[in-house]
Amino acid sequence: MKTACRQVQREGKTLGFVPTMGALHEGHLSLVSAAQARCDVTAVSIFVNPLQFGPSEDLAAYPRNLERDAQLLDGLGVDLLFVPSVDEMYPEGAKTYVLVEELSDKLDGASRPGHFRGVATVVAKLFGIVSPDFAFFGQKDAAQVAVLRKMVSDLNLDVELVVCPIVREKDGLAMSSRNAYLTPQQRQQALVLYRSLMKVQAAADAGERDAAKLIEIGKREIAKESGARLDYFAIVNPDTLEPVVDISRGALVAVAVYVGTTRLIDSVLL
Ligand code: PAJ
Repeated sequence: MKTACRQVQREGKTLGFVPTMGALHEGHLSLVSAAQARCDVTAVSIFVNPLQFGPSEDLAAYPRNLERDAQLLDGLGVDLLFVPSVDEMYPEGAKTYVLVEELSDKLDGASRPGHFRGVATVVAKLFGIVSPDFAFFGQKDAAQVAVLRKMVSDLNLDVELVVCPIVREKDGLAMSSRNAYLTPQQRQQALVLYRSLMKVQAAADAGERDAAKLIEIGKREIAKESGARLDYFAIVNPDTLEPVVDISRGALVAVAVYVGTTRLIDSVLL
C-alpha cells in the first residue's frame, strides 16, 4: 500500500483517502464520491479495528462482507483498496497509541472508554501508510470528527480532513453498518433519534436559544419510545465537544440511544 501510494505522489497526483470498517452503505459511498470529485486518485481502507471496540462490544458480530465491498468499490472505479489484517496493523509488541486528551472522554468517548484512543491510533497509522492529501469522514460520527481534527492539528499531520454530510434512509434514519442488527420492529423504533433531532431543530428555528430547554425537548421525544434507552442527548460546541448554554453561535446536537442492544448515534448542526 505504501509503495502504491508513494507512486501516486511521485506522479504528482493528489490522493484522497476514505477509511472505513466495511459493510459499506450509501454513507460510505458518499465519501468515496467526494474523494473522487476532489482528488486524482482515491484509496479506501477496510479494517474492523479491534482497538476501538470495548471488551463487551460488538467486535465479533460486526458485519463483514469483503467480497461485496470490494466489488462495489471496483464498480465505482476506486483505485486502491487496503485491507490489512489485525496482525499487520498490530503486530505483537506494538507499544504506541494516540490519545487526544479530554476530547476522547466526551460524548461517545464517555460511554465507550478507550474508543477514541483506538480510532485516533488506527487513523494515525493509516495516515502514515497512505499519506493522503485529503481524507474524507462523515459528519455522522461528529465526535470522531472533532477528535481527528484535533489529532491532525496537534501532530502537524500533512492531511486535510474533509467532512461530508450525513446520508439518511428515506424516512430519516442515518445510515449505519449497525442498522443491520435491527429487527423490523426495532428499525421503526430507531426513527426516534431523527425525530428527536427534528423536534429540537424546529424549536431552534422557532427561536429557542436555551440549550437546556432544547435538550429537554429532545429527551422528552426519546422517552416516548419505549423501545429506546437514552445514552446521551447533548448540545455542544462541535470543535471542543463542551456543552453550550446558548445556541446563538451554532452548536452540535448529538444523540445516542440503545435500541435493544444496538447503540445508534445521530446528530444535527444548528
Ligand atoms: P465506519 O463506521 O465504517 O465509517 C467510515 C466513515 O463513513 C466514517 O467517516 C463515518 O462517519 C462515515 N459514515 C458512516 N455512516 C455515514 C452516513 N450515514 N453518512 C455519512 N457518512 C457516514 O468510522 C469508522 O468506520 C471508523 O471509526 C474509522 C474512521 C474507519 C476508524 O476505524
